[in-house]
Amino acid sequence: MKVTVVGAGNVGATVANVLATKKFASEVVLLDIKEGVSEGKAMDMMQTAHMLNFDTTITGVTNDYAATAGSKVIVVTSGIPRKPGMSREDLIGTNAKIVKSVVDQALKYSPDAIFVIISNPMDAMTYLTLKDSKLPRERVIGQGGMLDSSRFRYYLAEALKAAGIPATPTDIDGMVIGGHSDKTMVPLASYATFRGIPVSQYLSQEAIDDVVAKTKVGGATLTKLLGTSAWYAPGAAAAALVEAIATDAKKMIPCCVYLDGEYGEKDLCIGVPVLLGAKGVEKIIDVKLEGAEKDKFAESVAAARHTNSLLGDALK
Ligand code: 2OP
Repeated sequence: MKVTVVGAGNVGATVANVLATKKFASEVVLLDIKEGVSEGKAMDMMQTAHMLNFDTTITGVTNDYAATAGSKVIVVTSGIPRKPGMSREDLIGTNAKIVKSVVDQALKYSPDAIFVIISNPMDAMTYLTLKDSKLPRERVIGQGGMLDSSRFRYYLAEALKAAGIPATPTDIDGMVIGGHSDKTMVPLASYATFRGIPVSQYLSQEAIDDVVAKTKVGGATLTKLLGTSAWYAPGAAAAALVEAIATDAKKMIPCCVYLDGEYGEKDLCIGVPVLLGAKGVEKIIDVKLEGAEKDKFAESVAAARHTNSLLGDALK
């Protein structure tokens, strides 16, 4: 199975690297507009093949979409990352043009591909991709919820440790839905568990609120530390989505998808749990939201609609 990753920056290169180590893809094409960058990164990764024991061929190309022909999944990471102090929404003008052009070109060579969108602001870029490509909604998936849920698990594990309970992120089950946005993502604390037991049994409300707040600004915290946006977890999250599609896993993962009546919303791409499999989005899973979490999801929907309104001419 062939996968294309567009954009050989930190996130794109990490997606390619993690995909190779997961071993299910026969070929990963890494494409970038900067001459030599994807070729160099692909060659560097191929020189780990013996040590990491993978047979995936990673090919780097400069803007050569013909080399991506016949891809089952196309991961779009292209665009500028945010700098400290910027929101993901600040990137919309620049990234909308880039994402649109990438999707148009990639689709010519892989008309049956499933698109995984990472470029920010991701919910709006997913909506733009869907509208521009006119692809069926199951084939356009934004990656945000997997990453935010992973950060949520990390912060919950840290809080449990601080409360004297040895925990690692793999001990935690928890999900973040809503937009991939500092202000409006919705960590579902009421459903989060530590080895099957609600985290509220071990953590005070204050500690849970602190975890929720840290999760929401998880990306911004890293942007401040790194001077640019994060890549290890975003790259691994996209690779997890590709794996679920490639292996027809039908795994429940929160993804940004087009809603057509689900959650009472229409004509919007936002994060909700879905089953991911060979067709892309196989099913949208309904979760009963109550109280503050329901209100927060409604706020997130309103914010995503506002960001989509900023797409303006890009949607034409
Ligand atoms: C993040 O949250 C890059 O949006 C991505 O780190």
